[in-house]
Amino acid sequence: MSSSPSVRYQFFDLGPDASDMYQEVLGGLQALPKRLPPKYFYDEEGSRLFEAITRLPEYYLTRTEMNLFDRCEQSVAEALGNDACVVEYGSGSSQKIRKVLQRARPEAYVPVDISAEHLELQSAALSRDFPWLKVYPTCADFTQPFKLPEPVSELPKVGFFPGSSIGNFEPDSAVGFLRNVLRTLGPGGQMLVGVDRKKDPAVLEAAYNDAQGITARFNLNLLHHINAQLGVSFDPNSFVHEARYNEALGCIQMFLRSRETQTVVLGEYEISFTEGETIHTESSYKYDPAEFIALARRGGFDTEVWWTDENSWFALYLLRAAP
Ligand code: AVI
Repeated sequence: MSSSPSVRYQFFDLGPDASDMYQEVLGGLQALPKRLPPKYFYDEEGSRLFEAITRLPEYYLTRTEMNLFDRCEQSVAEALGNDACVVEYGSGSSQKIRKVLQRARPEAYVPVDISAEHLELQSAALSRDFPWLKVYPTCADFTQPFKLPEPVSELPKVGFFPGSSIGNFEPDSAVGFLRNVLRTLGPGGQMLVGVDRKKDPAVLEAAYNDAQGITARFNLNLLHHINAQLGVSFDPNSFVHEARYNEALGCIQMFLRSRETQTVVLGEYEISFTEGETIHTESSYKYDPAEFIALARRGGFDTEVWWTDENSWFALYLLRAAP
């Protein structure tokens, strides 16, 4: 338990390893085309910028999903039952779960996040606001298999993965992720997933090229984060943000494009860039319902029910482990 008398939650640190970051960054920068893992967007500044993105007029995803939660909260609460343990993958600011908690009153909540600081802050606030809830923050890299805290081992599990974060995996990796989730949740496990839908590319591209330039700052902050963590010599001013819809793949792709020929030092390695060369920093896949239902099936889940908004822009799926 945390030592403060006013805080009632038990913290589980599965210690995501900083040396993994070095290997992943080096591997990505040595690859052709160059790439960097999007999970490293989220240092303190990156998390703050992402929160700002969710409030942008162009970024319809968060607003639309929140409204969808409001519309189907009764059905979600019934499907979950009140003895469940909700496991949130990449809990961040834990805002969306509040809607679910208010209505469904599960027994326990396991927020899983790579940032211990975020977890401590949000868990303290949740324990205060929902005193009946058992909160077991777990610091782990949720893209890798991990073990749930022992106290929830006997409870029925419901995975929670909102915000279309599943779209940030390549489709085969999304299937691999769902299979890991299935193993963690156990037989009969359920999963509530928010997924962005295909739509007019102009709407999609505007959401990732906002007029205030917040998404550009979010993308470039990746270089600041890597500099700070690994002592790399990136000059973020020598890169520009780019985001465009790849119709063939069905995803928004984000890049950082080098303004000039340059060399960056990472430990004992030198990484060269030609003028105009890109680093692929993120894919954000958009799925039509039939595509997502088929993907979930490959991951071992049947779709019990799904909901969408009046524009058919976003969808919420309730999945159950296939028998
Ligand atoms: C977290 N994830 C679902 C966001 C997305 O839309 O793919 C991340 C993001 N990247 C740029 N804007 C938002």
